[in-house]
Amino acid sequence: MLQIPPANNLPLSRRSLLLTAGPIFALSAKGIPAATPPELTVTEALRQRRSVRAFSDRKIDPALLAELLWAVFGINRPKEGLHTVPSWRGAADLIVHAATEDGVVVFEPDAAAARVWKAEDIRAQLSPQPFVATAPVCLIFVSDLRRLKAAGPADQQQLYAMVDAAMASQNAYLFAAARGLGTCLVGGISREAIAGALGLARHEFATFVQPIGWPA
Ligand SMILES: Cc1cc2nc3c(=O)[nH]c(=O)nc-3n(C[C@H](O)[C@H](O)[C@H](O)COP(=O)(O)O)c2cc1C
Repeated sequence: MLQIPPANNLPLSRRSLLLTAGPIFALSAKGIPAATPPELTVTEALRQRRSVRAFSDRKIDPALLAELLWAVFGINRPKEGLHTVPSWRGAADLIVHAATEDGVVVFEPDAAAARVWKAEDIRAQLSPQPFVATAPVCLIFVSDLRRLKAAGPADQQQLYAMVDAAMASQNAYLFAAARGLGTCLVGGISREAIAGALGLARHEFATFVQPIGWPA
């Protein structure tokens, strides 16, 4: 089991949960996936990238979910603690959750692990668009706006929150293309329902959700 570093950037409620709940999976010791099966080149992944809104019943196994989360917001330069995705002034404001039929996990990039956040299927609450809940995994992008304070007023913070999440979304699109998964970024979200279901604090702003699964 990996050592859990203090999660100082998280609210107390979440911190204590992180410290008590065991990881559901872990990546390699350095938090970077080991060699993966032969993948498409970036150029080929770009050729394949598209939005998919119809998913088969096949689930995404935890090892693949771990790699997906690493691609979306993992740490690729452990010495500096920097991420696979750029962010405004390196704010790293993202908090990435993954909702499945079993519940919700929150990705903890420092620990390279995901921890149980809620044992309830909340996928149907994420968006009024019905296809979202049909995906085996729905990523939920939340921004910790405290990390974007220097950006200025709330609307400016929310703008950068959206941009930072959108960058992570493209990582998910390219990962999906490389592994034969299908995905779609969804801006039409039920923001208040998400805040309620996840127990978000006032400074935590839900930006997008991104269902992902095996194309039907
Ligand atoms: C900011 C943003 C918000 C989006 N919101 C939705 C959405 O709410 N529902 C949806 O089905 N697709 C959504 N999409 C996906 C676009 O509809 C899709 O990218 C577009 O139709 C082009 O198709 P392609 O991704 O296959 O190239 C969104 C895309 C972006 C970039």
